[in-house]
Amino acid sequence: MKYLQSHCTIVGKEEIAKGIFDMMLFSKELSELSAPGQFIHILCEGRVLRRPISICEIDKEKGTIRIVFEVRGEGTKWLSRLFVTDKLDVIGPLGHGFKIDDTSKKVAIVGGGIGVPPLLELASKFKENATVILGFRSASAAILAADFMKKGCSVHLATDDGSLGYKGFVTGPLESLLSRQKVDTIYACGPTPMLKAVAEIAERENIACQVSLEQRMACGVGACMCCAFSVTGKNKEKRYAHVCKEGPVFDAKEVNFDD
Ligand SMILES: Cc1cc2nc3c(=O)[nH]c(=O)nc-3n(C[C@H](O)[C@H](O)[C@H](O)COP(=O)(O)OP(=O)(O)OC[C@H]3O[C@@H](n4cnc5c(N)ncnc54)[C@H](O)[C@@H]3O)c2cc1C
Ligand code: FES
Repeated sequence: MKYLQSHCTIVGKEEIAKGIFDMMLFSKELSELSAPGQFIHILCEGRVLRRPISICEIDKEKGTIRIVFEVRGEGTKWLSRLFVTDKLDVIGPLGHGFKIDDTSKKVAIVGGGIGVPPLLELASKFKENATVILGFRSASAAILAADFMKKGCSVHLATDDGSLGYKGFVTGPLESLLSRQKVDTIYACGPTPMLKAVAEIAERENIACQVSLEQRMACGVGACMCCAFSVTGKNKEKRYAHVCKEGPVFDAKEVNFDD
């Protein structure tokens, strides 16, 4: 997988929910190489280790990539304080993104919290063939729903407290969708318990499922094993995979969520 080190210019920045920032970066070379589900590794001032952030949208004509991130600690706090015209030292695009076979098939795209951004570029490939189910803590943490609608997708929302859409987890609207309609593939990104629950539904319904894992990372390129996650390979043997290099997207059947 080809990647490069680039000095991107920030060309847009907006706080779209409390502590969640939407940032547009200009780098023609990076946008040319990027695909849905890949991520960039950002050098944050004062931090030795880069911070991985998913690619949310790619515009190859304009030469931009969009990222959406939540302030969690010092690295993302620093990032959130930058301004338009500032430059960012970025390595990317990294990892293997979503496998897309046939965009004319019906798919379900399921996102939870800050796992939602990497699904937007994927949804743009399927347009009206994608039913998108997004889950958040509450209405105030909900992001990007209008962006998915603009892509032509049908969008269903769920919140833990019922302040927006269905009250409960994304698995409720997912089960309801599967009872109404045939779905070829489920794509998911979000917290590990959510991914595990979605993978169990997919297994039970015999539907292909791809999950994007957000594991802590260091090098980002397969050199340190910091991002190890237990998987079972085609020969049925358990092993640790590098989420940064072999993922972050995996076939849900391979992932050992309980190890
Ligand atoms: C492949 C990948 C893609 C990601 N994409 C996004 C994205 O699009 N938007 C976004 O907001 N975040 C994303 N993350 C999570 C993001 O990398 C972390 O929130 C960030 O590195 C935290 O850095 P920090 O210096 O601000 O916080 P730190 O001080 O390093 O950590 C603060 C807290 O953040 C949490 N945290 C740290 N690393 C991770 C991690 N890898 N995953 C989940 N939680 C973490 C921990 O709870 C920790 O206590 C992604 C992570 C991975 C591995
Ligand atoms: S982060 Fe170093 S091997 Fe994945």
